[in-house]
Amino acid sequence: MPFVSDELFSEICMANDIVDYASSFMTLKRSGRGYMACCPFHNEKTPSFHIDREKQLFHCFGCGASGNFVQLVMRLEGLDYQDAMRQLAERAGITIPENGMRQSNALTQKKEIMLEMNKLAARFFYDCLMDANIGLNARGYFASRKLNKKTIIKFGLGYAPDSKDSLINFLRKKGYNDKQILEAGLAVERKGDPVDKYRNRVMFPIINVRGKVIGFGGRVLGSNELPSGFKLAKYLNSPQTLVFDKGSNLFALNLAKNSKEKNIILCEGYMDVITVHQAGISNCVATLGTAITEQQAKLLLRYGEEVLICYDMDEAGTKAALKAIDIIAGAGGKSRVIRITGAKDPDEYISKYGISGFKKAIERAMPSTEFKISLVKKQYDLTDTDGKIRFVEETAKILAGIANPVEVEAYIKKTASDTGISEQSILGKCNEYRSRTRSRRSAPAATMEEYKRREAAKVNREKKPEERVTSAVLEAEKRILSLMAQNKRLCLIAFKIMEPEEFSNEVYKTLAKRIHEYAVRGEEPDHGAITNEFSGDNAAADVAAAVFFNREEYSDNDRTLYELIYTVKKNKLETMKKAETDPIKINELMKQERQLQEERNRWMSNI
Ligand code: UTP
Ligand code: MN
Repeated sequence: MPFVSDELFSEICMANDIVDYASSFMTLKRSGRGYMACCPFHNEKTPSFHIDREKQLFHCFGCGASGNFVQLVMRLEGLDYQDAMRQLAERAGITIPENGMRQSNALTQKKEIMLEMNKLAARFFYDCLMDANIGLNARGYFASRKLNKKTIIKFGLGYAPDSKDSLINFLRKKGYNDKQILEAGLAVERKGDPVDKYRNRVMFPIINVRGKVIGFGGRVLGSNELPSGFKLAKYLNSPQTLVFDKGSNLFALNLAKNSKEKNIILCEGYMDVITVHQAGISNCVATLGTAITEQQAKLLLRYGEEVLICYDMDEAGTKAALKAIDIIAGAGGKSRVIRITGAKDPDEYISKYGISGFKKAIERAMPSTEFKISLVKKQYDLTDTDGKIRFVEETAKILAGIANPVEVEAYIKKTASDTGISEQSILGKCNEYRSRTRSRRSAPAATMEEYKRREAAKVNREKKPEERVTSAVLEAEKRILSLMAQNKRLCLIAFKIMEPEEFSNEVYKTLAKRIHEYAVRGEEPDHGAITNEFSGDNAAADVAAAVFFNREEYSDNDRTLYELIYTVKKNKLETMKKAETDPIKINELMKQERQLQEERNRWMSNI
């Protein structure tokens, strides 16, 4: 789904340089023709992540993540294809022309207008906050929360005046109509008229990783309980709009993404995040007024190896932390829990125990399994036999969900020593729960490799027997494509004896066609531009770029190419033969096999 031409695409990539760009995310070391680093997409201690500067491609030999420059931007920064492309273009000072864009449609335009309006609104709120009279109380409120001016500027905080139409009037003057203002969630309808949604509130703009204001949170000044006993919502948040989805963004991710820390801290509230940042800790974000979603968990794991959950210590916060642990685990990540004992939230903890106290709490963050067990432990009296049994049962349930056997063993040992119940019995209980859940769904994959293997097996299982391909065939096809990509002459030879349709998956079919197009024009294929076809589908991009990373160098390339093509064709016939029961058809396939053999002899005699 490219939305810029191949030429413009390479121009943008070359103007930026993938190595330059990547070096702000990882420590790159020169190695042979390229650069190497520890892979940002999986956990590793020795580098297996390669960047090829010439081709502007990346490939991890550990987890298989691969792609071109724009796909690297997409994955590192969590952007979609068009945003990543635009970001790169902007970075190089290149404008993407209208006709180079696939969907410069009404929707995109509407979104852009909304973003512009949000930016103006944020500016308006900030100006109100700084206004000597209008912002007096709000500045007082922020002062009472110990926020300094630098922090206020960094987060672009503001104040929405106590008026029903000051923002509306401001935006009308800027040329926006009421419908647009309502759709952006900046006003609400009261008895048929639009009124400002945020009134007499301090304002927290929500900024995405591209630096665009996508929404707001607004807090009442002080208590949300009126003298009459009526309670206002403490925080009002933007509704779902064309540019704002509270389940897929995180507060302060625009700042946290630049932190050099390896983990990421997740808080519950805006104020917590801001205080933590003011304390000099910048790898901290919060959800947007709702429980964490799987999408947010994935986003977090893109920016941190582990998520350090830092929620309130009350019952609600603990419950939310337990839920976050499971959602993060479901997204394939690990988490720990920062315990801020002695304060109601991180904000209060920092004012009470200082920055050093909070840093210590981060260091002491508890692994999530230990945290779960510690909560269960609190519920039972371990001096009592019944209490011990119940505690062991609850613990076994927790351990049954863990895939890593070493981790399970460590906790079993600990539980045995806490209760005096044998490791053997606890393991027995654990396996009992495990088999109960197994029947419903299999345990989560322990590694990326395991996950990929399972997914591949799943795809294969869904296919008819004659469509199933062995990894040997896939490997041969990959090598054919690599040879084709390296050498125009070989590409033309391959095309004479093999159809693109003979490749076993869509990615390979497309690659064959695209590489051939270049060869026919007498050009070297542009690897980055071709890989671009697969933006939007990481798995496909992995497969495609791996082809270009695979270097096939033999003393006799022609012979190798013929042998590989023969292998693919022969395997295909064999698989079909195995799946066939009709003797006549089997006979026909055997005849085809003999023909293939003869053809092969002809190819070889031509070399
Ligand atoms: P808290 O009440 O813990 O907020 O709610 P906080 O950030 O610590 O607030 P302060 O310290 O009193 O200013 C946590 C988060 O839940 C959401 C907000 O995102 C808030 O930051 N929330 C809370 C709402 O969306 N609406 C509410 O009425 C209350
Ligand atoms: Mn708070």
